[in-house]
Amino acid sequence: MNIVNSPAWQALATHAEAIRPQHLRELFAADGERFAHFSLRQDGLLLDFSKQRINAETLALLHKLAETADLKGWQEKMLAGETINHTENRAVRHMALRADKQEPPEVRAVLERLQAFCESIHSGDWRGFAGERITDIVNIGIGGSDLGPRMAVRALAAQQQPDIKVHFIANIDGADIAPLLARLNPRTTLFIVASKTFTTLETLTNARTARAWLLASAGRESAIAQHFVALSSNLELTQQFGIPAENVFEFWDWVGGRFSLWSAIGLSLALAIGWRQFKRLLTGARAMDKHFIDAPPAENLPLTLALLTLWNTDFLGASTAAVLPYSQSLSLLPAYLQQLEMESNGKQTDRDGNPVGAATCPVIWGEAGTNGQHSFYQLFHQGGRLIPSDFIALRQADFPLPGHHASLLANCLAQSAALAFGQTADEVRSAGVPETLLPYKIFPGNQPSTTLILPALDAYTLGQLLALYEHKVFCLGVLWNLNSFDQWGVELGKQLASRLTPVLNGESDDAGFDASTRGLIAALNAE
Ligand code: F6P
Repeated sequence: MNIVNSPAWQALATHAEAIRPQHLRELFAADGERFAHFSLRQDGLLLDFSKQRINAETLALLHKLAETADLKGWQEKMLAGETINHTENRAVRHMALRADKQEPPEVRAVLERLQAFCESIHSGDWRGFAGERITDIVNIGIGGSDLGPRMAVRALAAQQQPDIKVHFIANIDGADIAPLLARLNPRTTLFIVASKTFTTLETLTNARTARAWLLASAGRESAIAQHFVALSSNLELTQQFGIPAENVFEFWDWVGGRFSLWSAIGLSLALAIGWRQFKRLLTGARAMDKHFIDAPPAENLPLTLALLTLWNTDFLGASTAAVLPYSQSLSLLPAYLQQLEMESNGKQTDRDGNPVGAATCPVIWGEAGTNGQHSFYQLFHQGGRLIPSDFIALRQADFPLPGHHASLLANCLAQSAALAFGQTADEVRSAGVPETLLPYKIFPGNQPSTTLILPALDAYTLGQLLALYEHKVFCLGVLWNLNSFDQWGVELGKQLASRLTPVLNGESDDAGFDASTRGLIAALNAE
């Protein structure tokens, strides 16, 4: 039976009628202990969801829905290595990458090779074609082979190893790679070609450009072995590209691209922060895995986040969700979560091939605070749209400077309070605002938010944070009865682009394309 027709869903729909008219001001007035009732602490993390538009009954009904969806059963299937990614006939085992002593032997073997490689770069044992040590690492990858390490390298900038600079190239636009190559020295640069499939157009195009650039200086093919490594599950294609087998770090088809930071795909991060810190990231993620598997539903952080998103999306009518890290170091988290959440759950066909029957993944977007306050928060406060948000803050600054951190945190708390409680006409009047300006100064409030506080930003807490969202995504997939682990929706555009490339190169005609596309081709190809 479709979950939308279940008694648990129907009970939530009825309950939502009663909640929708209530303002967060009323919910707080009705329960003096609201913060205590709607917050969770786990291994140093604090999750405050008291500013969500829920009451105790909402939570109870949402948990009933999770039972109806058999969340526990799906967790067990994932852990048992069942092929829960049924449309690709694959298991989903990213947790095995961070299982510490329980990791599968193939995972351990690759981790050991990665460690040895990192150490040889850091110690200077690894040398380039002219005998110099490596100073610059360029990760060439896109999507899951880029966003995770790129975000994490920025997040952990405070732990950056000296003498190594890590760069990221993703876009097929030459404007991404060309300026970088212009400032790098081929004798001291190492390229990591990161691609699970090793068929991705952007990555292979950039990798070929990088190879030509290197060979133009080195003058001999054998230099490839000193300047290129690959991270991939396709060992045949890495070999065809000319990367020797000993320079290939493997991962497996049971690691989804957007869940792959913990695999060899994390190499650029490990080079940036050092192997010990990379292992701390895995340990933090593993701690969250354990919590997700063992904690009872009412104390379960990932499940709580998932249920709140489902509530806001399907019962309060939100179509977007904002991620607002009050941490410059986490400024790439929204982009990372866009892929994680939207590529996983941006689907309308359920596991059985039927329509889900409900709205699924909201549009994820966001920006680091306080920057966003000076651009889009106007709409947040007075634009009349429902926008649930996740505020993320650090108790301790990662770059402590006098006068900065308390103001940053004050802004974070100020915004979530202003969004929740707004400002009434009476409050505006009592501040002495003239009647003519009154309508402009009213803040309706009632914007729901969750605040997550990390004790500090380090490899361990970053691991916890990312695994928290990974498991949230898993829970939502179960609740909507989706396969969160395929991504068929990316294929059509790729196929059309490969048919259009020869047309734009003047190698074939535009027959078969629609009138708009033909018109655009003509304009682009005009002399
Ligand atoms: O096009 C989407 C996608 O397949 C993502 O799922 C993936 O993370 C990205 O492309 C890169 O894929 P690959 O690692 O195989 O190059």
